[in-house]
Amino acid sequence: MLELKTTGGSQIEMQDILPMVDMRQVLFSIFILMLVIAALLLSGCHQDDDSSENSEPADDDDVADDDTSDDDTVADDDTIADDDTFPDDDDDDTADDDSCLQPGADCTLGETAADAGIFVGAAVPSDPEDPRLSLVSAHFNSLTAENAMKWGELSYHLGDYDYTTADALLAFAEDNGLRVRGHALVWGKYPGHGYPADLETLIGQSPDPYAFVQTAIADHVATVVGRYAGRIESWDVVNEPLSSVGTQFDPNPFYLAMGADYIAAAFMAAREADPDARLFLNEYFLVYDTPKTDALLDLLEDLLAQGVPIDGVGIQGHLFVSEPLPERLHRFLTAIEALGLDIELTELDVAKNVLWDDMLNGQTLFEAQADAYDLLAAACFDVASCTGLTVWGIDDSRTWLDELFPFNLFAPNNPLLFDRDLAPKPAYFAIRERIAEAFSR
Ligand code: G3I
Repeated sequence: MLELKTTGGSQIEMQDILPMVDMRQVLFSIFILMLVIAALLLSGCHQDDDSSENSEPADDDDVADDDTSDDDTVADDDTIADDDTFPDDDDDDTADDDSCLQPGADCTLGETAADAGIFVGAAVPSDPEDPRLSLVSAHFNSLTAENAMKWGELSYHLGDYDYTTADALLAFAEDNGLRVRGHALVWGKYPGHGYPADLETLIGQSPDPYAFVQTAIADHVATVVGRYAGRIESWDVVNEPLSSVGTQFDPNPFYLAMGADYIAAAFMAAREADPDARLFLNEYFLVYDTPKTDALLDLLEDLLAQGVPIDGVGIQGHLFVSEPLPERLHRFLTAIEALGLDIELTELDVAKNVLWDDMLNGQTLFEAQADAYDLLAAACFDVASCTGLTVWGIDDSRTWLDELFPFNLFAPNNPLLFDRDLAPKPAYFAIRERIAEAFSR
């Protein structure tokens, strides 16, 4: 029994003093004390919550903790994406408690993505003064330069660099708190755009094409990734290494000189130049059920077995309305995830089908597009390793599909999330609702 000592040395037992105080006062005081302690504890937790939500989205468990490489990705580090710069940091108070994921929330796509801990971005043209950039900063939380960071755009002649446009777009992204995907370091298509215009001539003049290309890749990747180290969260290191269809490598100048070794060379140089950037292999025609998907899985397994530092797979996702997206897509994404790799849908657009008329299957074009975008977003966010999606353009007034044969035969394709009046289309809301649904489960 609890004992109290009196100054006089005689003992008074607790039961002796209890009747001297009003038990109700004691209980009431204890109750108040507990309330104060609970309030203090809760306010401490709340501060912790705030600080985590004000950091970048990928710090959320299901993204940042999915790190697949030995190196921590940028999402875990104090780099660009950890800046307190995402849409829900500013004047949208509702977004600070994940309310963008609530049904009917009035949030932008970027705010919704930020609350979900993922990235939703747009590819932007090579004009830092383009007024439509304001649409990107208002509605997205990620940006990709559609062309400005390609090897041939930075360096029309091998070794001569002009960073003017790339620097300006990166500055715009940073000023507006947008994550940046770098696109694309090594891509064997479009001389003068994808790679330097004089590259093939120089390779042809070299007595040792393998060594020449190896050095060219190492120099280029070290130069560009090094220049932007810590500022570009993820890079498409190798773009489109496989042929359009089938299971062969694309016979591009890099492959012709080095075989598949050029892929490992590019990834190793990128890891060395920026150990924190997430490194992606980006490929197209993967949303359909073709042998190409198996070929890509084989390639990834080989690269990983060799210890090539690859963190993720970019699935471009150019597709046509009303194409069925088979169960295969889910299995394909799951297989990539099982390899320990991240996934992003990197170049989404939904073009007209060859059969398209005014209506198809009772739907308008915009309705059918919304369904297609929704299916893609649902497939991606159904796997925990999908960290984001990017739409390949801003609004329907400008898209590569209207410029490049044979897609330009169907112009206007109107494949994007904003119409020509810069109003969001049904597809915009479909993706937003899909994200909210997927991440509020
Ligand atoms: O910059 C020149 C300009 O000076 C010239 O007047 C004009 C005349 O055609 O061409 C301009 O270059 C164009 C360049 O985009 C920049 O706008 C090229 O002709 C054109 O071929 C190039 O197309 C780009 C293509 O990649 C090749 O780089 C598209 O805009 C771009 O959307 C497309 O993006 C690719 C991804 O990188 C990889 N996945 C497929 C995707 C679609 O093809």
